[in-house]
Amino acid sequence: MKSLAILGSTGSVGKSTLDVIRKNKDEFKIELLTARTNFRLMAEQCKEFTPKFVYLENKEAQKSFLDELGTNNPQVTLLSDEKELNQIIASEDLEIVVAAMVGIVGLKPVFQAIKHGKHILLANKESYVVAGEILNNLSKKTGATIFPIDSEHSAIHQCLMGVKNKESISRLILTGSGGPFLNRDINDFKNITPKEATTHPIWNMGDKISVDSSTMMNKCLEIIEAKWLFGFDDIDVLIHPEGIIHSLVEFKDKSLIAQLSIPDMKIPIAYGLGFPERINSGGDSLDFEKISNLSFVKPDSKKFPSLVLAKDCINSGGTSFSTLNAANEECVASFLEGRIGYLDIHKIISEVLDKSDIKMVEEIGDIFEADMQSREMTKELININ
Ligand SMILES: NC(=O)c1ccc[n+]([C@@H]2O[C@H](COP(=O)([O-])OP(=O)(O)OC[C@H]3O[C@@H](n4cnc5c(N)ncnc54)[C@H](OP(=O)(O)O)[C@@H]3O)[C@@H](O)[C@H]2O)c1
Repeated sequence: MKSLAILGSTGSVGKSTLDVIRKNKDEFKIELLTARTNFRLMAEQCKEFTPKFVYLENKEAQKSFLDELGTNNPQVTLLSDEKELNQIIASEDLEIVVAAMVGIVGLKPVFQAIKHGKHILLANKESYVVAGEILNNLSKKTGATIFPIDSEHSAIHQCLMGVKNKESISRLILTGSGGPFLNRDINDFKNITPKEATTHPIWNMGDKISVDSSTMMNKCLEIIEAKWLFGFDDIDVLIHPEGIIHSLVEFKDKSLIAQLSIPDMKIPIAYGLGFPERINSGGDSLDFEKISNLSFVKPDSKKFPSLVLAKDCINSGGTSFSTLNAANEECVASFLEGRIGYLDIHKIISEVLDKSDIKMVEEIGDIFEADMQSREMTKELININ
């Protein structure tokens, strides 16, 4: 049995991971589950999956969790702080760490898991976007593996199976659904509400990534994630509203390989959990007879200017990735709270990138420093907006 930690088990990716585990109970045992505040769902998950350890970041939620779990329930040890969490992530009993929490909070536990040579199933793109180079270098030293479960990167991973020579690849093509505003008039973007931005046409995801999908910042982060994962700077984006083709690789001879399935995160998660074998995902088959159309559109960078930021940051390198990510996290949170308008998101991020000093990254501390500075500047701009 493979032993597993799910960081962010109460979120959309965390729940899908548990759905896959439910279908493969004899193959996996759960060592650790973590979340921020959702103690009720955590207690339910504990009753069903009996993890050895649980961590809730919020202190109030820790107390409520113990009440909710009750006394007649499985013996679970509730970890009280980050230090204890780090010890469990480092422990020899743990093989696989599913990084499914949202935002830069993922960086410290992902760093810890890589430092201790774990197999990381990465959904938490933010940590890898900001620190890809450092995490890749560290994983080479410790033998850790960083395995993507983002659907697009899982698709590229599958398309690259058996490719021995990088020279044979001519380009990577990341597909994207285009989000909820693909066909909305650009003149109406100023009226977009948080509710509209968090209602994705085909994927059911957490609020932050849903807003990122609507602005196409998600695709921007995915381009950077793909750069660190596969070692390519030349990555194209293709809008494919049906979300059936999850990405493609084109080879030197102009042959293309694509990966297809219905849009369901359980499928790339099962690929990651089972690799190199294939396991039951619990997802449905793709019914070709029911697909009336597969369409493709060139991304519109005037409507979705976030896409251009990926190339800018790749050219600038260093702390530009942390500056971009922190400004985006702050802006999305403020937009969801109704403190700034939809168009302010890109406006403020661009201003922060323009005004920030981009530095070389030599150690992980440089990333946290750039993250803090970017958040401070973003908050100032949000307040004067
Ligand atoms: N959803 C998708 O289909 C999808 C696809 C590809 C990649 N991803 C990536 O996967 C990650 C998770 O996305 P999601 O949609 O699953 O997000 P989500 O539904 O918002 O879930 C986030 C999870 O992280 C936990 N969390 C939040 N803040 C935390 C903190 N400070 N400390 C510890 N845990 C914390 C949450 O706990 P509480 O529930 O207690 O708040 C929850 O378990 C993101 O990086 C996203 O970009 C998601």
